[in-house]
Amino acid sequence: MGYPILFENITKKYKKGKEKIVALDNLNLKLQSGIFGFLGRNGAGKTTAIKLLLGLIKPNSGNISIFGKPPDSVKVKKMIGYLPEVSYLDKEFTPYELLLFLGKFYNIEKKTLREKINTHLEKFDLYQYKNTKLKNFSKGMLQKVSIIQAVLPDPELLILDEPTSGLDPISQYEIREFIKGFAKNNKTVFLSSHFLDEIDDVCDHVGILHRGKLLRYGEKEKLLEFKNFYTFVIEGNIEGFIKKYNGNNIDKNRGSIEIGMHESDDVMKELKKAKIKIIEYCRQKERMHDYFLRVLEENNE
Ligand SMILES: Nc1ncnc2c1ncn2[C@@H]1O[C@H](COP(=O)(O)OP(=O)(O)O)[C@@H](O)[C@H]1O
Ligand SMILES: [Mg+2]
Repeated sequence: MGYPILFENITKKYKKGKEKIVALDNLNLKLQSGIFGFLGRNGAGKTTAIKLLLGLIKPNSGNISIFGKPPDSVKVKKMIGYLPEVSYLDKEFTPYELLLFLGKFYNIEKKTLREKINTHLEKFDLYQYKNTKLKNFSKGMLQKVSIIQAVLPDPELLILDEPTSGLDPISQYEIREFIKGFAKNNKTVFLSSHFLDEIDDVCDHVGILHRGKLLRYGEKEKLLEFKNFYTFVIEGNIEGFIKKYNGNNIDKNRGSIEIGMHESDDVMKELKKAKIKIIEYCRQKERMHDYFLRVLEENNE
């Protein structure tokens, strides 16, 4: 079926009086299944990309396809669940009533629908509030109801626009765990966020969007592989070794030392010769926070 989501040369401009704002500037993205995190500050263009995906707005130029079809295809729309940045729920309903009502639009058989709603409410610890009006719910509880609404039709693709913004830490945690669980079974999640730790925790693939431009895209683990260092944890006569290699971040108690990548082959040989035991060695991983700042800096921000 090809890529679940494809943006090809997408440019989107908005008119603001006489001015034109370039919200997306020639965006190209080929997404695989799994959890994709679109990371960017406010105003980067994340919501614009999501609205384009949903066919709510049209690009000035370029092509978008979802599961090989254009965003306005009815077949595709049925495969998508969507959590908007700001969701409006009628607060006179109870969650159970609201979800029953919405479920009817998805043509889900009544008994199945009831079971599904109950399962989801239980998963989110909301079952006991099943018959409580939404006007008594906290922000976190409301967001969980909105997420249930988005996953009710069992979508292949779940689009979440800043799912945890403004929520308490426990709700954030619950929602992140839910997203990870959902993505199993080969589903695709497209998530926008300005939370670095959320992107780090939840996503397999990350794109950094800045002022409408995609600065980086790739597998998170690859992006965060810090290119310059290996950490060696060694046992034996490490003093002489340390002197010779003059490594960084030496921890004598733990016997660990950081060695520049380009030296690592030599270091391995040297350690063997000196009969120093290597307990472990690993390539350093950069923190998402540092990575993000470095990428912005490299783009002269
Ligand atoms: N309807 C609109 N009319 C004019 N400008 C808009 C509109 N929607 C978004 N923008 C502008 O486009 C840019 C990208 O916005 P948006 O996609 O909402 O970013 P994000 O979701 O990353 O915060 C911003 O400069 C924003 O002010
Ligand atoms: Mg937004």
